Amino acid sequence: MTKVSPSMLSADFSKLGEELKRVENAGADWVHIDVMDGMFVPNITIGPSVVKALRPLSKLPFDVHLMIEDPIRYVEEFSKAGADMITVHIESKGNTMRAIEKIRSLGRSPGISINPGTPFSKARKYMDKVDLILIMTVQPGFGGQAFREECVPKITQARRYIDDNGLGVEIVIDGGINRETGKICADAGATVLAAGSSLFSAEDMRSEITLWRSFGRE
Ligand code: DX5
Ligand code: ZN
Repeated sequence: MTKVSPSMLSADFSKLGEELKRVENAGADWVHIDVMDGMFVPNITIGPSVVKALRPLSKLPFDVHLMIEDPIRYVEEFSKAGADMITVHIESKGNTMRAIEKIRSLGRSPGISINPGTPFSKARKYMDKVDLILIMTVQPGFGGQAFREECVPKITQARRYIDDNGLGVEIVIDGGINRETGKICADAGATVLAAGSSLFSAEDMRSEITLWRSFGRE
């Protein structure tokens, strides 16, 4: 079954706690939390204090996507705040391998993310060190952008690599996911769909999530 990770970036920020409960009640598997620093991407979103405030309100795993420069500086704070999975971009500054090791040493699940312009080959050397690879299907920074279909072959490549090497790495897709593009990604081998605008604007978030969870290869 495909997992669904709604992105809180599209929630109503004036009532984040209620929005988190709405996501949980709608049957989400994970909660996607987008952290932006105005440096790695042009936008600024939320920091560890918000993650900490949300933590007691939900039992769902927090999938924290760090779109920040030098992410290793902040992984401990996000871990303490209650992040379960912490994903860093291989395009960000600093040593990606060390950031992954630090996340692991804190008892959290490390992930790596690649931008649309970064080939899957750049991620290979991290694949046996991480629990997830997050393949961006938009340029990170803002919700509501159009899905970039040219990224789909990378999903196929990641799927093949994971299967060939007997790894248990989740393939998370993020950016422009809706019921059509989500199905394309799941068919290509994605295991987790992260989405903001299409889920939060859905007439019925629960039935949308239920539909997406039925996508998959088998
Ligand atoms: C974009 C973020 C995404 C964003 C997706 O930089 O990483 O998680 O919330 O939003 P939609 O689903 O609207 O493309
Ligand atoms: Zn994201």
